Amino acid sequence: MMEYVTLSNGVKMPVLGYGVYQVTREECERCVLDALKVGYRSIDTVQSYFNEEQVGSAIQKSGVPREDIFLTTKVWIEHYGYEQAKASVLESMRKLRTDYLDLVLLHQPFSDTYGAWRALEELYEEGKIRAIGISNFYADRMVDFASFNRIKPVINQVEVHIFNQQKNAKEWADKYGIQLEAWAPFGEGRGGTFENPVIGEIAAKYGKTPAQVMLRWHIQRGIVVIPKSTHIERMEENFNVFDFVLSDGDMAVIAGLDRAESAFFSHQDPAMVEWFVKMVEERKQQHDSAKEEKNW
Ligand SMILES: NC(=O)c1ccc[n+]([C@@H]2O[C@H](COP(=O)([O-])OP(=O)(O)OC[C@H]3O[C@@H](n4cnc5c(N)ncnc54)[C@H](OP(=O)(O)O)[C@@H]3O)[C@@H](O)[C@H]2O)c1
Repeated sequence: MMEYVTLSNGVKMPVLGYGVYQVTREECERCVLDALKVGYRSIDTVQSYFNEEQVGSAIQKSGVPREDIFLTTKVWIEHYGYEQAKASVLESMRKLRTDYLDLVLLHQPFSDTYGAWRALEELYEEGKIRAIGISNFYADRMVDFASFNRIKPVINQVEVHIFNQQKNAKEWADKYGIQLEAWAPFGEGRGGTFENPVIGEIAAKYGKTPAQVMLRWHIQRGIVVIPKSTHIERMEENFNVFDFVLSDGDMAVIAGLDRAESAFFSHQDPAMVEWFVKMVEERKQQHDSAKEEKNW
């Protein structure tokens, strides 16, 4: 049976959801329909995955009542600043075919996050968004952001997996009543997470798979997970993690696998910040030239 976390503003959220990063537009509708069929009731998308429309149409076609689904999207950097962020969330709602969102996150800790946050605060107070949060804010930025805004973020979605366990970030998040949510809960398999012998041994002991052990470990740490798979059998496998409990000893053994470093990149690396700036500029140019073509 699904387990839930209660966010600091009282909103209940499934501890396990389905993420649609790197799910192509062509496959997205089928994947979300499959995920809903399997039983997932929390879907995590983002403006910059360009598949919000497919998520929206899958939800509509599924026949699952909208209020039974916890729907998350994230505001992309290009849409930061007050006016643009506000307009972009309304546009996300149109694409997702809904008149409210359960959770909206600021996707990255760059550019005019404060302006964008004012927009989320307003939409939250108007009842158009049930909860607002952040993503990829490291502990220092998270504490700063939580302290100097009128409304505190209820969630921080960050990279968490067996090789990057975010122990320090978790302590700070707990102190500030901010729920941690793991993106790439398997580290996308990087560094051999699925083949790790320690995880394999624990999995064999419980008659479970490595994927199930990793998800169970997150859940028992009190971290929300949103694994992605385009295969329905794996969606089922990843969903079946509520019929066993890892012992304290096994939790401690997994804690020992931590390398405390990203399997992807650091958001504190200036070269990566430049990379984001470049991407935003390139997308803006593409957008402008597409607009010009239309005017022709
Ligand atoms: N906020 C952010 O900046 C951010 C960044 C990255 C991701 N995210 C969110 O987090 C979600 C999950 O992260 P992610 O997709 O990057 O990585 P992930 O969930 O850690 O791993 C996904 C990979 O694992 C494979 N997989 C899934 N279940 C499996 C199983 N039971 N056995 C073996 N392989 C399995 C998938 O392959 P198949 O699909 O082929 O099954 C896919 O290659 C995303 O979809 C997105 O919603 C957010």
